[in-house]
Amino acid sequence: MSLLIRGGRVITAADDVVADVYIEDETVTLIGRSLDVQAERVIDATGKYVLPGCIDPHTHLDMPFGGTVTIDDFESGQISAAFGGTTCHVDFCIQGRGQTFAQALETWHAKANGKTLIDYGFHIAVTDLREGGSLEELATLPDQGVTSYKLFMAYKGALMVDDETLFRAMEVAARSGALAMVHAENGDAIDVLVQQALAAGNTAPQFHALTRPPELEGEATNRAIQLAHVAGCPLYVVHVTCKEAVDPIQRAREQGWQVFGETCTQYFFIDSTFLERPNFEGAKYVYSPPARDASNHDVLWNAVRTDALSAISTDHCSFLWDGQKTLGRDDFTKIPNGGPGLEDRLKMIHHFGVGQGRITLNRMVDLLATTPAKLFGLYPRKGTIAVGSDADIVIFDPAKRETISAASHHSRCDYNLYEGTEVVGAPEVVLLRGRVLVENGELVASPGVGRFVRRARFGEQLAPTGATVSG
Ligand code: URP
Ligand code: ZN
Ligand code: ZN
Repeated sequence: MSLLIRGGRVITAADDVVADVYIEDETVTLIGRSLDVQAERVIDATGKYVLPGCIDPHTHLDMPFGGTVTIDDFESGQISAAFGGTTCHVDFCIQGRGQTFAQALETWHAKANGKTLIDYGFHIAVTDLREGGSLEELATLPDQGVTSYKLFMAYKGALMVDDETLFRAMEVAARSGALAMVHAENGDAIDVLVQQALAAGNTAPQFHALTRPPELEGEATNRAIQLAHVAGCPLYVVHVTCKEAVDPIQRAREQGWQVFGETCTQYFFIDSTFLERPNFEGAKYVYSPPARDASNHDVLWNAVRTDALSAISTDHCSFLWDGQKTLGRDDFTKIPNGGPGLEDRLKMIHHFGVGQGRITLNRMVDLLATTPAKLFGLYPRKGTIAVGSDADIVIFDPAKRETISAASHHSRCDYNLYEGTEVVGAPEVVLLRGRVLVENGELVASPGVGRFVRRARFGEQLAPTGATVSG
């Protein structure tokens, strides 16, 4: 099958040119002006942006958490992603207590099998190095294309690991070519504050944020950075929310340390007052780390603009408000932590980031596609538009007006964090390896087309496949 995308504005992290993109089977094989080629299908992209498919390096689909399971599985989550212009994601495979990593991976592969619309990889969430997975087993994961793992410094009594486990895992990352990731909040101190809040009868959603102050994110971020430096491994700090955490990341980067920070769409738009909304509406905004004081919104925009932070993910972890979030009506600690967003990232960042002059189009592509691809061993097969790369492409209409709403999104979640927000600019056609997934608001592919990607080790490239380079 051949496809020609004619006359669009092809935007990568580095370039911005009007060109034709020719695709043979799954791969981009030619890029140039007025290409003289025959194609089985031609899409006129005049006036549109032609972007690399976005990569979401942080999602939780079909994940048991907080006494329930996320409402989006691989099918609904990936459909939602595709509509939003995301063609690849890296999901967290959670090691259950006592489970080996092989068992955890088998469970996560089974969750995805037959349901996938976009390509995907797995990070391992390391929860136990004593009874289940061992350091030796952890060291073998890059051989299976699992080249990153997350350690939780919070969620005491559930996913949290101690500093010894964190440090030992970092040492394994250093010698096996993996990227260590941390959820950086001081879980011990949070636990004390939570017990004090409950003892004082403070059970409403806003106490979720009040018991997880930004200093405890800053402390854990700095601790993880120093530990990773001693262990000699690269470090990726997930879901950074505030100045207290941006500052140590920026300092480490200025010293040339291999430290990278990610923030998520919601941290630019939601602030801690949302948790005070009446009638338990505030529970919709309960995720960790929590929404912060609004002064942090500009801190984060500045950080992504200046490369203090390197990527924007969604941390999509969706629970129904009615029936799941409401488990915590009488006790905020029982509200499952997480929010939806897989579908909204590109539209929100384009409208409020590019449209309002905070970042350039190139930087948007870098934050949503290219840098995630580079850090997580997907580049240059994914994350850019180049000869030899997978033809994962978004034809984006910069003039299309949309109102974001749970009534029209494709997640199963019964609310949207950005309900009623009007944006200008939205995906029109989304391609995965040359196959049209979404066109003019319709899903035109069937579950099963997405593939597991064996990712390259940190710092290594993922060889493009199937390229017939001509011209
Ligand atoms: O509240 C959140 N972020 N839920 C997902 C788990 C995590 O910490 O990433
Ligand atoms: Zn986390
Ligand atoms: Zn997460």
